[in-house]
Amino acid sequence: MKLGRLNHIGVATPSIADSVAYYRDTMGATRIGEPFDLPEQGVKVCFVDTPGHDGTEGTQIELIEPLNEESPIHNFIEKNPKGGQHHVCFEVADIHEAVEVMKSRGATVLGEPRIGAHGTPIVFVHPRNTNGVLVELMETPKDHP
Ligand code: CO
Repeated sequence: MKLGRLNHIGVATPSIADSVAYYRDTMGATRIGEPFDLPEQGVKVCFVDTPGHDGTEGTQIELIEPLNEESPIHNFIEKNPKGGQHHVCFEVADIHEAVEVMKSRGATVLGEPRIGAHGTPIVFVHPRNTNGVLVELMETPKDHP
């Protein structure tokens, strides 16, 4: 397994609408996606692009808002009412290989790979093994070699 591109930084927010307004009006973001629900994960999601230099692909901010009180983000917002940085997501070439390698290196991989917000398989790694950072691993989309 080889660490790939920083795909996005997950930011929890009590209001995607308010966060979008901040990135657009204060930060000058010009590429902001449409928010969409991921009901199986209990969240509403919206991506803000942070473009790279010279047209290269940059990274993204993934805004995440809880859909309900059962949402995994709900507790985070209870503890951090204004929201805050929630996870960082790195690309890997093969998610199943990455899970096996990470486990063999002592990481606590949370559950089985499942389809994430980009439509490719993702898995989370518990922060106890990652120096306090909740890490999402995401298989590199096939159309972004
Ligand atoms: Co994410």
